[in-house]
Amino acid sequence: MAGSPAGTSSGFDTPSFLISEKMLNLIRNVFAFVLLVVSLSVNSQESRPLSEGALHCLTCHGNQTYTLQNPWTGQEEKRLMNPYFIIDTTHYRTGVHRTFSCTDCHATDYETYPHAAELKLEPLSTCLDCHGGDDTYAKYQFERIDEEFQKSVHFVKSGESFTCSKCHNQHYYKPTARTSSTVSEIVSYNNAMCLSCHNNLARFQLVSDQQNPVLAQVHAWLPNQELHFRNVRCIECHTQVTDTLMVSHNILSKEHAVQKCVECHSSNSMLKASLYKYQNLQARSGKGALGAVLQNESYLIGANQVPALKLLSILIFVAALAGVLLHSVFRFTKK
Ligand code: HEC
Ligand code: HEC
Ligand code: HEC
Ligand code: HEC
Ligand code: HEC
Ligand code: HEC
Ligand code: HEC
Repeated sequence: MAGSPAGTSSGFDTPSFLISEKMLNLIRNVFAFVLLVVSLSVNSQESRPLSEGALHCLTCHGNQTYTLQNPWTGQEEKRLMNPYFIIDTTHYRTGVHRTFSCTDCHATDYETYPHAAELKLEPLSTCLDCHGGDDTYAKYQFERIDEEFQKSVHFVKSGESFTCSKCHNQHYYKPTARTSSTVSEIVSYNNAMCLSCHNNLARFQLVSDQQNPVLAQVHAWLPNQELHFRNVRCIECHTQVTDTLMVSHNILSKEHAVQKCVECHSSNSMLKASLYKYQNLQARSGKGALGAVLQNESYLIGANQVPALKLLSILIFVAALAGVLLHSVFRFTKK
C-alpha cells in the first residue's frame, strides 16, 4: 500500500482526531485495495488481448472503412465496409469465443483479399457441432436446448434456415442470464436478440416470407409497454417455463403467450421461476449478489420491502465480498 497519503495530516494535534484520521486512512486503503483487486480480476477475464489472427482480419472488419492496394493504379484506396460485415471489437472481446482466431471458424482462405467468391458458401459450424456431447459444457445442457428449440414456433415454421445463430451471434454471445447481476442488463441483452430480427425487416425476410407484425400494435393491450419491455424479457411471456433449464427455448405460438397481469403482478409471480431464477442460483453459490444488492434490483415485484430479505441480502453481500477477497488472494499468489 505504497500509495497511502501519509503527508496529508491536517495539522491538528488533538489525539482523538489523529486516531480517527488513522482509521479513516485505513478504511480508505482497504477500500482502494478491494476496488483494485475487483477491477483486476474483472479485467483479466473480460478484456484479454485478441489473438494475432483476429487482429489481422479486424484491420478491415473492425472499422467502417478499409484500405486496399489497387493493382491497376498501384495506389492505396479507402473503401466503405459493408455495415453487415463489420465486427464490433468491443463486443467480440467480451464474448465467450474471444480467444478464437477468426479462422478457427472461418476458412483460412479468407487470409487473402479479395476473398474468393465461393467462400460465401462455406459451411460454418453450429453450436452443437462444437458443444454437443462435450462434458466440459454439460451445465449448459446444449442437447436439451436443441430439443426445446426444435419444438419452438421458429423451427416449426421456418425449419433449418432458423439456426441457433439467428439469435446467438457467435462473435459476441455471452451468457448474461448466468453472469450478469443486474436485471436491466439481462433484459436488454435478451430482448435485443429478438428485436434484431422482429424490428429489422431485412433479417426477418431471411427466414420468412410472412409479414413482419409491428410489435407496438401487437402488444397494444399491454399498458406501459415501454416500461414492461425494459423490465421483462420477451421470453417471459412467450415460452413455457422449465425448471431444469436456465433459459427456456421453446417459443410458443402467440395463442399461448402470457396475457394475464396476475401471472406477474402477484406475490406468487411467475418471474420467480424465470427471470429471477438466476439470482436464486447466485445466492446459493454466493457469487454475483454483490451487484444485485448495490443496484437494489434483486426484488420480486411487490416484495422488495421485506426487512428479512434486506438482512439476508446484506449477509450475502458480506459473504460475496469475503469470497471476492479470498478468490483474488488465491489468484495473486498463484501468478
Ligand atoms: C483488406 C481488407 C480485408 C481483410 C484483411 C479481410 N477481409 Fe473479409 N472482407 C473484406 C471485404 C471488403 C468484404 C466484403 C465482401 C467482399 O468484398 O469480398 C469481406 C467479406 C468477408 C466475409 C463475408 C463474406 C460473405 O459475403 O458472406 C467474411 C466471413 C470475411 N470477410 C472474413 C474474413 C476473415 C476471417 C479475415 C481474416 C482471416 C478477413 N475477412 C480479412 C475485407 C477484408
Ligand atoms: C466461433 C466461431 C466464429 C468466430 C471465432 C468468428 N466467426 Fe465470423 N461468423 C461465424 C458464423 C457462424 C457466421 C454466420 C452467421 C450467420 O449466418 O448467422 C459468421 C459470419 C461472419 C461474417 C458475415 C457477416 C455476419 O455477421 O453474418 C463476417 C464478416 C465474419 N463472420 C467475420 C469474422 C471475423 C473478422 C472474425 C474474427 C475477428 C470472425 N468472423 C470470427 C462464426 C465465427
Ligand atoms: C468452432 C467451435 C465452436 C462453435 C461453432 C461454438 N462454440 Fe462455444 N465455445 C467453443 C470453445 C472451444 C469454447 C471455450 C473457449 C475458451 O475457453 O476460451 C467455447 C465457449 C463457449 C461458452 C462458454 C463456456 C464456459 O463456461 O466457459 C458458451 C456459453 C458457448 N461457447 C456457447 C456457444 C453457443 C451458444 C454457440 C452457437 C451460437 C457456440 N458456442 C458455438 C467452441 C465453439
Ligand atoms: C429465438 C432466439 C433463440 C434461439 C433460436 C436460440 N436461443 Fe439460446 N438463448 C436465447 C436467449 C434469449 C438466451 C438467454 C441469454 C442470456 O441472457 O444468457 C439463450 C441462452 C442460451 C444458452 C445459455 C443458457 C445458460 O444456461 O446460461 C445456451 C447454451 C444457448 N442459448 C444455446 C442455444 C442453442 C444450442 C440453440 C440452437 C439449438 C439456441 N440457443 C437457440 C435465445 C435463443
Ligand atoms: C407481458 C407479456 C408479453 C411480453 C413482455 C411480450 N409479449 Fe409478445 N405477445 C404477448 C401476447 C399475449 C401476444 C398475443 C397477442 C394477440 O394474439 O393478440 C403476443 C404476440 C406477439 C407476437 C405475434 C405477432 C402476430 O400477431 O403474429 C410476436 C412476434 C411477439 N409477441 C413478439 C414479442 C417480442 C419480440 C417481445 C419482446 C420485445 C414480446 N413479444 C414481449 C405477450 C407478450
Ligand atoms: C432471425 C429472426 C428472428 C429472431 C431472432 C426471432 N424471431 Fe420470432 N419470429 C420470426 C419469424 C420469421 C416469425 C414468423 C414465423 C412464421 O410465421 O413463419 C416469428 C414469429 C414469432 C412469434 C409468433 C408466433 C406465432 O404464433 O405467430 C413469436 C411470439 C416470436 N416470434 C417471438 C420471438 C422471441 C421472444 C424472440 C427472441 C427470444 C424471437 N422471436 C426471435 C423471426 C425471428
Ligand atoms: C411477464 C410479467 C408481467 C406481465 C404479464 C404484466 N406485467 Fe406489468 N410489470 C411487470 C414488471 C416487471 C413491471 C416493472 C415493475 C417495476 O418497475 O417495479 C411492471 C410494471 C407495470 C406497471 C407500472 C407500475 C409502476 O410502478 O409504475 C403497470 C401499471 C403494470 N405493470 C400493469 C400491468 C397490466 C395491466 C398487465 C396485464 C395486462 C401487466 N402489467 C402484465 C411485469 C409484468
